[in-house]
Amino acid sequence: MKWDPAKYVQFGDYRDRPFFDLTGRIHADRPVQVVDLGCGPGNLTATLAERWPGADVVGVDSSAEMLTKAAAVADGTPSLRFELGDMAHWMPSADTEVVVSNAALQWVPGHQELIRKWAAALRPGSWFGMQVPGNFNAPSHALMRALAGSSRWEPKLRGVLRGGESVDEPAEYLGVLLDAGFTADAWETTYQQVLAGPDPVLEWVRGTALRPVLAVLSPEDGAAFEADYAAALREAYPAMQHGTVFPFRRIFAVGRKG
Ligand SMILES: C[S@@+](CC[C@H](N)C(=O)[O-])C[C@H]1O[C@@H](n2cnc3c(N)ncnc32)[C@H](O)[C@@H]1O
Repeated sequence: MKWDPAKYVQFGDYRDRPFFDLTGRIHADRPVQVVDLGCGPGNLTATLAERWPGADVVGVDSSAEMLTKAAAVADGTPSLRFELGDMAHWMPSADTEVVVSNAALQWVPGHQELIRKWAAALRPGSWFGMQVPGNFNAPSHALMRALAGSSRWEPKLRGVLRGGESVDEPAEYLGVLLDAGFTADAWETTYQQVLAGPDPVLEWVRGTALRPVLAVLSPEDGAAFEADYAAALREAYPAMQHGTVFPFRRIFAVGRKG
């Protein structure tokens, strides 16, 4: 699936804030190696290099488009580099002391098993922190799935969208980390995002959840799907005096290996 880095960084502050809420709970002192899995355009990975200037900071992503953007971010920072790779095949090295994954693991089916493997492989004292969206049952996603399942779209979109099974609840991630011998903390936050402009929720999901749909439809079909979806979103998220409120639940887990 192709990503559009420019579309993704739109709404920057709202997209970035959970990353800082997550990494604010990682209290590593002077890690040797820090890895950001599903690093996207690299702007947030760069903040890890600023925070830990002595660390080798590596961003891993499977999207060539995202990594092209990230390469420009790494320019001039020798301790920061980006690698093309699939998280599903990634394992920590002996030096990896901080692993961060922000808004990415939901794209990887079976990621709970991966976290178990990474947690087992990390050395004592290492940190693991993850954030995934917890909004798969919110109207934004439920309406998209309902439309994709309608008689008009089902033949073209069968199996393209995943539902609530994409992520677990905070307690389940907590359990995975505790079972692996981590001191762990898991929580959820619903950000009340106030978005500006026409059809702002559609604009938001165009950068993320709608991408699998647009990837398989022709441009004409994509536009037709978006028109119906936008109408449903306008009802679910009406424009108000101060903008459109788009509540966004996110799930976090952080732990340190004992
Ligand atoms: C929503 S973006 C998040 C980017 C960044 N972490 C941030 O918070 O701004 C999700 C990223 O995960 C990447 N991704 C999805 N599946 C992946 C996989 N199996 N391996 C590596 N990266 C993956 C995508 O290419 C995309 O850049």
